[in-house]
Amino acid sequence: MHITTAENDIESILYTEEQIKKRVAELGKELSEIYKDSTPVMACVLKGASVFYTDLVRAFNGHMLFDFISVSSYGQAAKSSGKVSFKKDFDNDLKGKDVIIVEDIVDTGLTLKYLKELLAERDVKSVKTVALLNKYECHPRDLDTDYFGFKIENQFVVGYGLDYAGYYRNLPYIGVLKKSVYAD
Ligand code: PRP
Repeated sequence: MHITTAENDIESILYTEEQIKKRVAELGKELSEIYKDSTPVMACVLKGASVFYTDLVRAFNGHMLFDFISVSSYGQAAKSSGKVSFKKDFDNDLKGKDVIIVEDIVDTGLTLKYLKELLAERDVKSVKTVALLNKYECHPRDLDTDYFGFKIENQFVVGYGLDYAGYYRNLPYIGVLKKSVYAD
């Protein structure tokens, strides 16, 4: 694969930097209200959620704790492998804690399912999920995220942390990737 400049590979911009900023601020406010009597552990799912996470935690008003878990199911591909591989565990002891899983996107819902099953064994007080993007039509309703920024159609998006084969994560907006980039 040869990638020229990232911008050339984008078909269209789905959400601009400004739109994302506004929506993340709203989500931060909403979560601050919900967790006003608690100190949640906000758990970033590496690597895709990292950009969203750093903006969301700064829009969160109140005490919270950082944590990071690393799992992956896409690897270098544009389609889920159907299997989640585990790379790094949480650092905190989550027993008795309110946990918020922070994701960039819920697509097939496989990753969220995996993480919820993992947390079910950790004796946490509660688990909620927040994702910037919700590919609503691509997962069953029981795998829905509790909170999300935007509902999107089934299209391949990159930027603001989301990648294709490791690239495009640094774009400040969410864009639809040209099919020619990932079609084989
Ligand atoms: C992406 C994304 C989510 C997951 C969503 O991670 O960051 O974690 O896929 O897809 P799903 O709902 O079909 O499970 P990926 O495996 O690409 O790893 P990355 O975060 O390191 O890019």
